[in-house]
Amino acid sequence: MPARKKIALIGAGNIGGELALLAARRELGDVVLLDIPDKEGLAKGKALDIVQTGACDGFDARVTGTSSYSDAAGADVVIVTAGVPRKPGMSRDDLLTINLKIIRAVAEGVKANAPDAFVIVISNPLDVMVYELKRITGFPRERVVGMAGVLDSSRMQAFIAQAAGVSVREVRTLVLGGHGDTMVPCLSYCTINGVPVGQILPKDKLDAIVDRTRNGGGEIVKLMGTSAYYAPAAAAIAMTESYLRDQKRMLACAAYLDGEYGFKDLYMGVPTVIGGRGVERVVEIELSSEERAMLDKSAAAVRELIEASRKL
Ligand SMILES: NC(=O)c1ccc[n+]([C@@H]2O[C@H](COP(=O)([O-])OP(=O)(O)OC[C@H]3O[C@@H](n4cnc5c(N)ncnc54)[C@H](O)[C@@H]3O)[C@@H](O)[C@H]2O)c1
Repeated sequence: MPARKKIALIGAGNIGGELALLAARRELGDVVLLDIPDKEGLAKGKALDIVQTGACDGFDARVTGTSSYSDAAGADVVIVTAGVPRKPGMSRDDLLTINLKIIRAVAEGVKANAPDAFVIVISNPLDVMVYELKRITGFPRERVVGMAGVLDSSRMQAFIAQAAGVSVREVRTLVLGGHGDTMVPCLSYCTINGVPVGQILPKDKLDAIVDRTRNGGGEIVKLMGTSAYYAPAAAAIAMTESYLRDQKRMLACAAYLDGEYGFKDLYMGVPTVIGGRGVERVVEIELSSEERAMLDKSAAAVRELIEASRKL
C-alpha cells in the first residue's frame, strides 16, 4: 500500500485553513498546517475541526497543526501563505517589507525540511515572494511556482459567465503578467465554448470586465477588510492536483523565466503545463501588440519590485 502524499501548508490563516479543508476533502494526501508558535493553537484547532468534518463528510486524511518544521519533513507539496494580507487602501506591493522577512524564514525552513517538495507560493506581493523563495532554497525552477494567474483567470471567467448568461464551465480565459495592477487579461484568448468572446459580448462590457478583473482582489478587500481566500485556495488546489495526479493542465502560473517571452531571471504569470515533473513547460503564445505592450509594462513593474527587495 503506497503511503499517502504529504502536503505542508505554511501559514494556517484564512487561505491556509481553506487549503487544508479542500486538500483533505479531495483526499490529495495528509495535511500539515504550520504557523508561528503564537498561532500554533489556531493551526491545531483548524486541523481538529477538519478531521471532524471528515467524519461528517466521509473523507480520509490525517490533518495536523504545528509550529515546528520537523512535522513538515519530507513533504511532497508545500503551499506558502505565510505573511500578512492587504487591508483596504493597500496595494499588494505595500506588503513587501514585512512579507519579505517572513518568506525568507519560510524558505530556510522548507529548504532544510522538505528539499524535494513542489512549492506553490501564494503570499503577496506574489511575483517577488516566489522569486525570493526560489533564490533562497536554490530549488530548480520546475519545483517553485506562484499562484495568481489561475485565480485572476477564474475571476475573469466568472464575470464573463455572468455578463453572457452562460455556465462558467463554457468560459475560457487567460490572465498573464505580474499579480498586480499591471496584470494582462488576454481578451484574444477568451472564448465561450470556442467562440471568441467578442462575438458574444460588446466591447464596452468587455472593457469593464477587464477592469474589474484587474481590481478583482481589491474589490473583495474593500468589502471584507481582508483578502479573498476561497478562490485563492481553490486555485492553488487545482495546481496541486495537476502536479500530484500528473494531469498536465495548462494553467497560467507565475513561472521562472529564463528567456521565454524575452525575459530572464524573472517570475511572472505565463501559460505553464503543470504535471508530475512540476512546471513541465512554459508555453509561449502569440500576443496582440497591445497585450505584448502590457506584458512588457507588467514585467518592468515586477523587475522594479525585485530590485527593491534586493535592498531590504
Ligand atoms: N497570490 C494570490 O493570488 C493571493 C490571493 C489572496 C491573498 N494572497 C496573499 O496570501 C497571503 C495570506 O493571506 P491570508 O488571507 O491567508 O492571510 P492570514 O493573515 O489569514 O494568514 C496568514 C498566516 O501566516 C502566518 N504567518 C506569519 N508569519 C509566518 C511564518 N514566518 N511562518 C508561518 N506562518 C506565518 C500568520 O500567523 C497567519 O496565520 C497574504 O500575503 C495575501 O496577500 C495572495
